[in-house]
Amino acid sequence: MPRRLIAAEHIIAARDRARRRVEILPDDIVTTEAQEMAERLGIRLELGPFERPAPVVTDGATAARRALWRRSPRWVAPKQVTARTPMRIGKLALIGAGGVGTNIAHLAANRDMAEQISLIDIAPGLAESTALDLNHAAGVSRSRSRTEGGTHLSLVAGADIVVVSAGRARGPGMTRADLIDINQRIIHSTGSAIATHAPQAIVIVITNPLDEMTQAMLDVTGFPRQQVLGMAGTLDTSRFRTALALAAGVEVRDVEALTLGSHGAEMAPIVSHSRIKGRPLDAWLNPEQIQQCVQAAIGGGGQVVQLKKTGSATIAPAHACIEVIDHIRSARIGTVPVSVLLEGEYGIDDVVLGVPCHLGQSGLLVVEELPLSAQELSQLQQAAAAIKVRLGAAQ
Ligand code: LAC
Repeated sequence: MPRRLIAAEHIIAARDRARRRVEILPDDIVTTEAQEMAERLGIRLELGPFERPAPVVTDGATAARRALWRRSPRWVAPKQVTARTPMRIGKLALIGAGGVGTNIAHLAANRDMAEQISLIDIAPGLAESTALDLNHAAGVSRSRSRTEGGTHLSLVAGADIVVVSAGRARGPGMTRADLIDINQRIIHSTGSAIATHAPQAIVIVITNPLDEMTQAMLDVTGFPRQQVLGMAGTLDTSRFRTALALAAGVEVRDVEALTLGSHGAEMAPIVSHSRIKGRPLDAWLNPEQIQQCVQAAIGGGGQVVQLKKTGSATIAPAHACIEVIDHIRSARIGTVPVSVLLEGEYGIDDVVLGVPCHLGQSGLLVVEELPLSAQELSQLQQAAAAIKVRLGAAQ
């Protein structure tokens, strides 16, 4: 084999294919940039040649027996095994170092998810002090993530993922939609900075009203829809799942739940795709109890605001954001509810809405079109119409 030059692009390509190690042959030349990139992305450079798995040889009779067995009603599909080795993020930038941004930084550092975490906040000293505090904690947590803080949006430079939680939070009695004008201005300034300094980044929007702000982020950055995701579905789903588990008296891990639609009054907890211990909700709960759980998901954020009086929830949104990041970095497989720009899916076009998505290292891979009941589908379509009206009114 001729001598190969292994450059940084090869390492990035390996990362994009979710490889955790790259084969280096004795004659290869590995550039310093490639070595640094491998170190940064947590990819091992290993001396090859690697052992190739032996080809699977099956005789015709065995293949036929297996095929027939799979058609038997007693055959149960094997559970999908765990995800591939998660990618370690090079740089995670967080715009907004309030409760949500700080909790995300804390969770990300504790899980050692990123090489570098950059916290940015307009309030002087806030992001810097939080970064210092997190770095001090690393002496105990042993986290390898380094955190920096500052007020300049240019700190997003080179980020792989940028999370935007900056903006006004709701006060008691306010709806998320009441924040549209003020927060749209914040999305404009942050979006322009992201487009300039981190044009390759995947952007996760958390600022409310979520679906409208995700749409504004798409408009201002000009990024393709794959790169701009709104985080709300994982939060609403978490609230729905918790309520179902409490109502049925089971553990949260026994509940599969799903919430789609907008992150607001038109939220759509999807009863038809939710299960408790693998069985439909009505096997455990009466219609009134199911309705109470639906209301707990829709009103959960508002309940926190009423009690807190000075802002909205921070801990559950941070966990829900980490869940989205985990799907991007292949730490989790399957679909996850995320707000994305729809292009005809579910009969909806040109509006951002929460739908089940497959995510990967380039952001949105594909929107999963689940079969929904007529009522659930119409809820999604009503949510889309309401968002369009609100965005039209705010122009
Ligand atoms: C909530 C806010 C953050 O749902 O939208 O808690």
